Amino acid sequence: MAKTGNKLWHGRFQEATAASVEKFVASIGYDRRLARMDIAGSLAHARMLREVGLLTAGELAAIRRGLAAIERQIVAGTFPFDESLEDIHMNIEAALIRRTPAGRKLHTARSRNDQVALDLRLWAREECDAVTALVVALQKALVNQAAKNTDVVLPAYTHLQPAQPALLAHILLAYVEQLGRDRERLAETRRRINILPLGAGAVAGTTLPINRQRVAELLGFEAVARNSIDAVSDRDFALELAFDLAMIQQHLSRWAEDWILWCSNEFGYFQIPDAYSTGSSMMPQKRNPDVLELIRGKAARVYGDLTTLLVLVKGLPLAYNRDLQEDKPPIFDAADQVRSSLALAAEIVRHGRFNATRMLDRCRGGYLDATALAEYLVGRGEPFRNAHGIVGRIVAACAERKIELSEAPLELFQRFSRRIERGVYDYLGPLNVVKRYRSSGSSGRRLVAAEVKRWKKSLS
Ligand code: ARG
Repeated sequence: MAKTGNKLWHGRFQEATAASVEKFVASIGYDRRLARMDIAGSLAHARMLREVGLLTAGELAAIRRGLAAIERQIVAGTFPFDESLEDIHMNIEAALIRRTPAGRKLHTARSRNDQVALDLRLWAREECDAVTALVVALQKALVNQAAKNTDVVLPAYTHLQPAQPALLAHILLAYVEQLGRDRERLAETRRRINILPLGAGAVAGTTLPINRQRVAELLGFEAVARNSIDAVSDRDFALELAFDLAMIQQHLSRWAEDWILWCSNEFGYFQIPDAYSTGSSMMPQKRNPDVLELIRGKAARVYGDLTTLLVLVKGLPLAYNRDLQEDKPPIFDAADQVRSSLALAAEIVRHGRFNATRMLDRCRGGYLDATALAEYLVGRGEPFRNAHGIVGRIVAACAERKIELSEAPLELFQRFSRRIERGVYDYLGPLNVVKRYRSSGSSGRRLVAAEVKRWKKSLS
């Protein structure tokens, strides 16, 4: 024993592991994060072993006491993590064996290959729930702002050029829709996460009479993995979660980009409170939206995490390969970055202030009501293609005089089309336009108010 060190797998070895190898293969530095899941898995496994007669009642009791004591040490920060024991699984098992001889039976019908797959699934399941809760909180913050700002009108942009008048609430709800799809994806992923790999053993199963269904039940899994070889090599669930996270960060990044623009002097639509702004080390006047920029920047990092996972698994032969140990840093990082970004996004949405006057003011000068004028003509029998041409010429004439469509005299309109009459002024200007949008999903006042109500209800 002394010759070959402290390894639990050293029976056939003639030499101790090289120090360089111990350092190189260790994952305890990051997989200690799975300690709670590892203990929960071991408790369920031990209980099942007792039920099928592979442990005595006394042994189960000793294992339970030992694992509880280890968990307390880990929580208190006094657990002696040992790099030479590679990973969290070996650290906990070795500590248990130091506490009780029954510890030597815990690994019956189990391999670290199915154990680590289990721990990661338990972690991923919790993460789905935590991320979902944060997404819901952000949706609520957006919907509350929409409800508080039902009358605010601003330009909607295409190609970042002012396009049509829209309600601020409608734009806020666009983000809420994106996040709604993110929640659906997480719920789908969770279903596939929630399958028990334990009992697969190292790869082909065990000759011992274990009861996998019982372990699944104890740990709240929907089903047991049907193929042991697949169970230990499958990381689809982690990749899916990474994709879901990348998609969330993509939505956050696009939102951040919008609001970075909105915070600029040029737009002036939004103000981030001081508590969420940052200053410049040189320029005394600055208030910068660094938090939004970092949310945008972290998207690169989360995409990197997803890419790392995709590349990690692409060439692996069945079944478990040690490469899979490298799955943890990227998936942990993706979850951490997305969680903190979601939390900060919600705070900024909650505490920021919109400048409604400025938004309405920016509806001037861009002829945002031109499409509504063309549709007015369509309503009076003009084919749309003709109406488009007529209004284009009217816009050019108004631009030359530096006036809005709503400021043009009736004679000007009538020079281009006899169909335009006095009532046209009820169709022009941003406020008239948002009153008149009527297609479902549009920025119409009543439609948007109904959507705000619907979302409020579904989120409460
Ligand atoms: N630390 C390993 C991982 O994270 C645990 C499984 C090790 N299994 C093995 N056969 N070496 O994947």
